[in-house]
Amino acid sequence: MSAVETRPEDERPLSVVRQPLPHDSAELHVTGRAVYIDDMREPAGTLHLAPGWCPNIAKGVIRDVDLTRVRAAPGVVAVITAKDVPGVNDCSPSIGGDPVLADGEIEFWGQVVFCVVAETRDQARRAARLALYEGEAGTPIVTAEAAKAAGTTVLPEYRFGRGELGRAYGNAQRRTEGRFVIGGQEHFYLESQIAMAIPGEAGDVHVWSSTQHPTEVQHIVAKVLGIPDAAVTAEVRRMGGGFGGKESQATQWACLAALAAKVTGRPCKIRLDRDDDFVMTGKRHDMVADFRVGFDGEGRLLSADMHFLSRCGYSADLSLGVNDRTMFHADNAYYYPTVQIRSERLKTNTVSNTAFRGFGGPQGVLAAERMMDTIAVLTGFDPLEVRKRNFYGPGRDVTPYGMKVEDNVLAELVGELEKSSDYLRRRQEIRAFNGRNRILKRGIALTPVKFGISFTLIHLNQAGALVHVYTDGSVHLNHGGTEMGQGLFTKVAQVVAEEFGIGFDRVRITATTTAKVPNSSPTAASSGTDLNGMAAQIACREIKGRMIDFVAQEYGTPPEQIDFRDGQVIIGNGSVPFAEIVKKCYTARVQLSSAGYYSTPKITWNRDKAEGRPFYYFAYGAACSEVVVDTMTGEMKVERVDLLHDCGRSLNPALDIGQIEGGFVQGMGWLTTEELVFDDKGRLRTHAPSTYKIPCCSDVPDAFTTKLFDGVNREESIYRSKAVGEPPLMLACSVFSAIFDAIASLKPGVVPPLDAPATPEAIMRAVTAMRRAEG
Ligand code: MTE
Ligand code: MOS
Repeated sequence: MSAVETRPEDERPLSVVRQPLPHDSAELHVTGRAVYIDDMREPAGTLHLAPGWCPNIAKGVIRDVDLTRVRAAPGVVAVITAKDVPGVNDCSPSIGGDPVLADGEIEFWGQVVFCVVAETRDQARRAARLALYEGEAGTPIVTAEAAKAAGTTVLPEYRFGRGELGRAYGNAQRRTEGRFVIGGQEHFYLESQIAMAIPGEAGDVHVWSSTQHPTEVQHIVAKVLGIPDAAVTAEVRRMGGGFGGKESQATQWACLAALAAKVTGRPCKIRLDRDDDFVMTGKRHDMVADFRVGFDGEGRLLSADMHFLSRCGYSADLSLGVNDRTMFHADNAYYYPTVQIRSERLKTNTVSNTAFRGFGGPQGVLAAERMMDTIAVLTGFDPLEVRKRNFYGPGRDVTPYGMKVEDNVLAELVGELEKSSDYLRRRQEIRAFNGRNRILKRGIALTPVKFGISFTLIHLNQAGALVHVYTDGSVHLNHGGTEMGQGLFTKVAQVVAEEFGIGFDRVRITATTTAKVPNSSPTAASSGTDLNGMAAQIACREIKGRMIDFVAQEYGTPPEQIDFRDGQVIIGNGSVPFAEIVKKCYTARVQLSSAGYYSTPKITWNRDKAEGRPFYYFAYGAACSEVVVDTMTGEMKVERVDLLHDCGRSLNPALDIGQIEGGFVQGMGWLTTEELVFDDKGRLRTHAPSTYKIPCCSDVPDAFTTKLFDGVNREESIYRSKAVGEPPLMLACSVFSAIFDAIASLKPGVVPPLDAPATPEAIMRAVTAMRRAEG
């Protein structure tokens, strides 16, 4: 990558950063010794909560709840309702509308009406079912289309674009339109939502919460209890997966635990049962995507009119940012000369949909890929050829939201994957295979990903870290980011070890707590390492600067000749062990602790004008997937996958590859087997692994290769790396496109009406429609 200017320090030899170190807790994870909240030793007298809800109402009013039998049940200590909330009864992360405990009005099936507090979890759960409800059930609005017809929204419609769409469409040589359904997705983190609250003195409370956003838990618990933020501490060592599902929706459970602790004066814990977690917490937004495209005879897109109907559920939650990100990614890798992108945020009587890996981006990317696949079918060109013709490139490099794409590596990256995956040869083999076989049809697709890195809510792009060096030379590291399995703590500790020139094992990684680093952002938008890595580096450099000043004076050596390497402080031609210098600094009264703070440069976004540069940079990747579809049964098997992903200069190739593979498989589940079914009464019928199928090991093909693209971040990110948490999920669009390709082979020129997820049923519907269509 010659076009990029790097700083001299980017070129200095590194000893800990870029090493494929295992996750710092890997051994604890696999031996069952990693402490999750439910593994913490409970203080004596801990009580347990279970939520109570009315299974007959998805929309309506509860006039009275008879709790007599609940209160009388064995072990019950208290029952808390909306009346017990001393502060504000709302745990919304945005504009409000999320009561911690419903107060009369019920807006979705599963809304919590009360909470039982009992001596054991089992007693609490049994008692929660004994309530008698008196109220009226109305007719719930369940689907996005029904909400559109009724005109119910959680947020106003938003749109942006450029050019005169009508004219561009009218003038195009060829035109088409389409509509398809993009399904939602349950997070299915292995550790369900959990919180434990311990009351302190004078109204203080300490809350352990499995949350991606401890600061929000702290602030909202304070608001609900009517006490200052400073009276609440929120803490989390690790989550058993979050995937966005614990960005805003861990808060309600933390509030309930804290409220129960306040009411009873005893430690209180709530851990949701899997079915309750399914029913009561939000999911990926499902959408109906409509598009109208004009293109030329070469398959080059001239105008795109895209319209998303998004099922947000009963409240706004994070739907503004999520649906905006769908719009920011509706171009994916492609230049749309004339474009309009529209998004409607519809209110339904279903659980409030929320962040999920990609934060709305995947829905936009899938729609872009559908347009490319559609153009390919209608022109007869190879889909990869159509994709390449539409890539961003010189003079065609401004996104629909006005940001210039300056760091595009897709031509090179896709070229490399096309070769290594042997795409062209396999395409020919597949054509021959499909010619020979009537029932089994193969398909292949190579699809790109371009994903914008930064929170589009600009103020969230900041982070703090706290570093202490103790007199034995060991280092205590803390920052505002949270660990959910992604390896954030390991990467930030690598940065710290590198700064001080010490071994990775000399850095102690500690739990995230609002008492050490305040006002932190959620660990989300894949930006955990970018933000916290920088903040930690800044803290280390502050301490190092003071140490260097001291050493320079003490040893009469110019600061340029002082360095930290191999556990030593290099002083001119000599060296002294790091720990020894630390001790000397302490004795000389040099401060060995520092708080670091970082905020992302360059980014701006004016939402009203739809202008600016919302992303610091883009992360890229591409995937080639091959599938075989049984057109008699709808069964599908992924036969081979090749991934090539851009992590800039990887901080830790082992963790990055883990994120790429994990993200891909999770995306594959979203697009193939994971189906959420709400019935017409608004009841979620798929609320356990018996009815909701996530991928398992046997769904991963034997032929599965993952490679890191040899790239560099043009921007001054931490060690020129790139964020990796979410982008690879969208590599799974190649699986969906490959299925589409297999079905398309049934009748050349006909566009398969395939919806996502491509379950056997969805595949059969598309196959049947193809067989009936005029070829
Ligand atoms: N990886 C694991 N193992 N578990 C998770 O919960 N969450 C994903 C991703 N990778 C997740 C994960 C999501 S939604 C995001 S936004 C990022 O990790 C957050 O972490 P990062 O910013 O440190 O990448
Ligand atoms: Mo990730 S969806 O940004 O928590």
